Amino acid sequence: MYKQELAIIVQSIITSNTVDEHTKCARNLSGFYEKIATINHFENNETHVKGGIALSSSGAADCVDDYLRTVYFIKGVYKALIKLCNDFPERSINILYAGCGPYATLILPLLPLFNKDRIKAILLDINAASIESVHHILAVVGLNDYSIQLIETDAITYDKPQDFTIDLAISETMHYALTREPQVAITQNIVSQLPSHGILIPEEIRIDLAYTFFDYEPSLKNAIDEVKGRDELQPYPHSVFVDRLFTINKELFGTQSQNLSFKSDFYKLPDDFSNHPDVSIFTEIKIFEDIELKTAESYITNPYSVVSLYNLIEYSEIQFIYDFSDIPKWTYNVKSLLID
Ligand SMILES: C[S@@+](CC[C@H](N)C(=O)[O-])C[C@H]1O[C@@H](n2cnc3c(N)ncnc32)[C@H](O)[C@@H]1O
Repeated sequence: MYKQELAIIVQSIITSNTVDEHTKCARNLSGFYEKIATINHFENNETHVKGGIALSSSGAADCVDDYLRTVYFIKGVYKALIKLCNDFPERSINILYAGCGPYATLILPLLPLFNKDRIKAILLDINAASIESVHHILAVVGLNDYSIQLIETDAITYDKPQDFTIDLAISETMHYALTREPQVAITQNIVSQLPSHGILIPEEIRIDLAYTFFDYEPSLKNAIDEVKGRDELQPYPHSVFVDRLFTINKELFGTQSQNLSFKSDFYKLPDDFSNHPDVSIFTEIKIFEDIELKTAESYITNPYSVVSLYNLIEYSEIQFIYDFSDIPKWTYNVKSLLID
């Protein structure tokens, strides 16, 4: 009975077209999980790993309520799975899902749409309570006959089994501007184990530098009742795009697999910045093909302010460093104004 109810909800997610529809079906999914998830979620089981903070099981459960994030990721995973099923009609599709949380939100709802022989999945989470919760939900919904392996481990150091070729790797372990959570360290490890045909979700995380008036930029504060789509959001009109600092994707880690930081060029600081006084980082996510999450459509694409230009008036140029060797963070170097 639950399996059919879940299939109806996920079908509505796949076919939803408007922000109202996205919100409604994500709310239904959230209500469904709340109804069946009898395992307690804890707020005090955050874990510090070398690469970031893994959310508590309660914090990870709340991610389902970041409505556009949830809907767009599920749409993206579905589209990727359909592509893989078409490309490999004779065999099952191998999925590695790193950081599944207590609901395995980005894959579990889709299972009823696929024959159990078509899917083989390994789900990882560092949080024991989250793994226990997914076990419970698979049993309650009646999805125990799918080939799903649940492993409590650190996805940053995890090695896949040799006979498991990853066709689809999924990880949403990120905070805005790639701060705090270990998305980049996990992606680096997964990509090193992904074959050339393997799909990574999200396909791209684009990190841009802009000078703006941070307080006037749209920012999602409450996804339960303030969700706006990209057509309704009003970006601050005087912001100045400076550069794309980097893009996290398969190709990047193909060439730089050992690096634990990114260093940008030096950028000239503007002389007149009264209209755009904040040095800010913007995040956009290409989940898969045309399915994207834009600025402030989700908590994970909210803008982030690094420093005010009012604090840099003695300097002429700025360089950014993104370091994910431990809890990911942004720092900067500045060059002084030349004195004649
Ligand atoms: C932002 S939550 C997302 C949960 C779920 N995937 C979703 O999309 O709703 C991230 C999850 O990744 C897990 N996680 C973070 N870092 C991890 C790591 N290094 N190894 C394994 N799991 C990790 C956290 O415990 C948490 O459950």
